[in-house]
Amino acid sequence: MSGHEFQSYFPESGSVDMTDTSTNIDETTMAELRELAGRYPQSRSALLPMLHLVQSVDGRVSPAGIEACAEVLGITTAQVSGVATFYTMYRRRPGGKHHVGVCTTALCAVMGGDALLETVEAKLGIHPDEITPDGTFSLERLECNAACDFAPVMMVNWEFMDNMTPAKAEGLLEDLAAGREVQASRGATITSWREAERVLAGFPDGRADEGPSAGEASLLGKGIADAEGWAAPQPEGSVL
Ligand code: FES
Repeated sequence: MSGHEFQSYFPESGSVDMTDTSTNIDETTMAELRELAGRYPQSRSALLPMLHLVQSVDGRVSPAGIEACAEVLGITTAQVSGVATFYTMYRRRPGGKHHVGVCTTALCAVMGGDALLETVEAKLGIHPDEITPDGTFSLERLECNAACDFAPVMMVNWEFMDNMTPAKAEGLLEDLAAGREVQASRGATITSWREAERVLAGFPDGRADEGPSAGEASLLGKGIADAEGWAAPQPEGSVL
């Protein structure tokens, strides 16, 4: 075979680590899982936020967390595992205090994403899907984050770090390691991956409005349309 081959990449494609039975899930967590289940007309619709809550408590989707979700929703552990292992935002191994993602999909790669990932790997001394010995950082190679207009992008605890360079990435990691305040490009001040997971579970920390929600690059087309007086044509038959 000659030339370049397409390489697919499926991080952590194994199943949940059933050998690590440690858990922090207690009665408070169980009550919050039940609260989440009660927010939906069909309780099993709550499974995704419930798994985020499990991650915020256990640092991963733990076997105990899977059992807790199954118990609260009245479904099987196999059904919970099937969902937990389908989506890449659910971790099968413990994450670091800060979970760092580097996008290396096409546009970010063209703009330097691979060099960015190499820099982060060298700086942290780990490869994707690994965690630093002190537990401060875990690393993930990300597929497109739908932030191509700010390529190359990194994420820290799911917050965007736009228009990154290797030098900016090194400074960012040094600030996080030193506990200095770090502001996302279009989001809140960085706290920790577990705290971010709790917000994703549906327990807001009151900081959702910190930082700009949209950047200049995303709004450029709208600005041109406004200046030119352009508007989308109404669909045929529309009464608007
Ligand atoms: S390719 Fe990286 S955000 Fe789209």
